[in-house]
Amino acid sequence: MLVFAKIKSIQQKIKSLPKGTTVGFVPTMGALHQGHISLVERAKKENDLVVVSIFVNPTQFDREEDLVNYPKTIDADLSLLKSVFCDLVFTPTAEEIYSNNIKSASFNFDGLEHQMEGKFRLGHFDGVGTIVKRLFEIVTPTKAYFGEKDFQQLQIIKKMVVKNQLHVKIVPCDIFREEDGLAMSSRNARLTKEHRNIAPFIFKTLKQAKIEFGTKNALEVMQWVENEFKKQPLLELEYFEMADEETLLPIKTKNKTQKYRAFIAVFAGNIRLIDNISL
Ligand code: PAJ
Repeated sequence: MLVFAKIKSIQQKIKSLPKGTTVGFVPTMGALHQGHISLVERAKKENDLVVVSIFVNPTQFDREEDLVNYPKTIDADLSLLKSVFCDLVFTPTAEEIYSNNIKSASFNFDGLEHQMEGKFRLGHFDGVGTIVKRLFEIVTPTKAYFGEKDFQQLQIIKKMVVKNQLHVKIVPCDIFREEDGLAMSSRNARLTKEHRNIAPFIFKTLKQAKIEFGTKNALEVMQWVENEFKKQPLLELEYFEMADEETLLPIKTKNKTQKYRAFIAVFAGNIRLIDNISL
C-alpha cells in the first residue's frame, strides 16, 4: 500500500498505470470503521485498484467545534486499510487542497441541497461538492463509492456528476450497522456510555416508523416519531422527514410508483447522529 500526501505524486502514480486500469475510489474523512471498510471491500471487488482518501474537509463543517473535535486516528486508519489490501491512500493537508484559500465553491444541486441536512448545516453541501469534485479531478476514478448512511450526500454527488458530465460511476453502498442497529459513524466513538446505550433507539424508531407508514399518512407518522422522542430525555430530535428518494421533497400524498425514505437527525448530548431507512 502506498501513501501520498501530495497531489502531484498521486497523480503521477495514477497516470503511470497501464491503460484501461479501473480505479475504485472511496473518499473519507478518516477515523475509519467497518462502514468505511465495507465500501473499500466492495471497491476492491469491482476494480483493478482501490484509492482511499483521508481528509477532514474544513469547508463542510458548519460547527467549528465539530471540526476541531473530529476524531483523527491516522495510524489505525492506515493499518486497517492495509489489512484489506487497499492500494493507494491519499492524505493531503488542507493547504495542499485549498492553498491559502479555505473556501467552498457555490453549487446548484436543483434544490436537493435545501432539504434536511441543508436546512440545519448551512454551507455543508457546498463544502462537500467542492472537495469531492476536487478529489475526482485528482484521482480520476472509474467508480466512486458512497454510503447510503449519508443518503442526501449520495444524491447530491450523483447530481453533481450528471450536471458537470463527470466521467465517474457513483456506486451507492448499504448502511453498515452495529449489532444493536446503530449506524456506524466516526462520531459514535465520542458518545458517552449513557448516550451510546440509548443510541440504538434511533434505528429502532426508524424501523417502527416504516411499519407505521403502512397504515398512517406521513404527517401521522411524523407526529408518532416526535412523541416517541419526547419520552427519551437523553436524545433530542432535530428533524424527522419522510421524502421522495430522488427529489428529497417531503411526501405530500403517498404514490405507489414513487420510492420514499425516512430521514432522521438526533443530538445525543452534543454529538449529532443521522440515519435513514427506505420505506
Ligand atoms: P465520512 O463521514 O468519512 O464517510 C465516508 C464514506 O463512508 C461516505 O460515503 C459515507 O456515507 C460512508 N459511510 C460512513 N458510515 C457508513 C456506514 N455506517 N455504512 C455505510 N457507509 C458509511 O462522508 C464523508 O466522509 C465526507 O462528506 C466526504 C464524502 C469524504 C467528503 O469530505
